[in-house]
Amino acid sequence: MKQDLGAHAFAFPTPVYIVGSYGKDGKPNAMNVAWGGICGSEPPCVAISIRKSRRSYDNITEKGAFTVNIPSKAHIKEADYFGIASGHKVDKFAATGLTAVKSPHVDAPYIEEFPLCLACKVIHTMELGQHVQFVGEIVSVMADASCLTAGGLPDIEKLAPLLFDPAKSAYNATGEYLGKAFSVGKEFLNKG
Ligand SMILES: Cc1cc2nc3c(=O)[nH]c(=O)nc-3n(C[C@H](O)[C@H](O)[C@H](O)COP(=O)(O)O)c2cc1C
Repeated sequence: MKQDLGAHAFAFPTPVYIVGSYGKDGKPNAMNVAWGGICGSEPPCVAISIRKSRRSYDNITEKGAFTVNIPSKAHIKEADYFGIASGHKVDKFAATGLTAVKSPHVDAPYIEEFPLCLACKVIHTMELGQHVQFVGEIVSVMADASCLTAGGLPDIEKLAPLLFDPAKSAYNATGEYLGKAFSVGKEFLNKG
């Protein structure tokens, strides 16, 4: 018997995306976004939901572009800071000492010290109550060699991404490898 907890944004886990954007003045900014996720594969797309009060909202609306940077757990403090300080008031790159680099693919900066970056062009926006959802087409993925497998694909263990727990408002690390997708469930095929 389940308890009814009411209406909450309780999907587990949510990501920790650090979204990079440029202002009209060309100043780089970045914010922490937990309300987001992959929402398409051909073309590859990612959705992020941002309140209109954020500096990043103005930037992304103006430029039609953003980056999604995946921080490793080593950068938990910087990632959190990007979610508690606003580019309306401070220069977050100056404060953290992290490096904003112009993406070669879109008019948005990526974060040099974070291992993986998705360069995105806005293809849809949708009002969702307090948030506006931006759907970005991922035009390129930029990765540090240190987070790749021998086959050249991102490795979750090397990336060591942060996860956000929306119930405790806390960060967790990823857990252990459990099994191969599109495979471990095969024993149920032809049984139903
Ligand atoms: C873990 C975490 C997740 C967050 N997720 C979101 C989010 O999904 N959407 C949003 O609008 N704000 C979110 N925030 C708040 C913004 O990151 C925060 O208001 C930030 O200061 C906005 O920066 P900006 O004004 O420079 O764009 C989150 C903050 C934290 C710490």
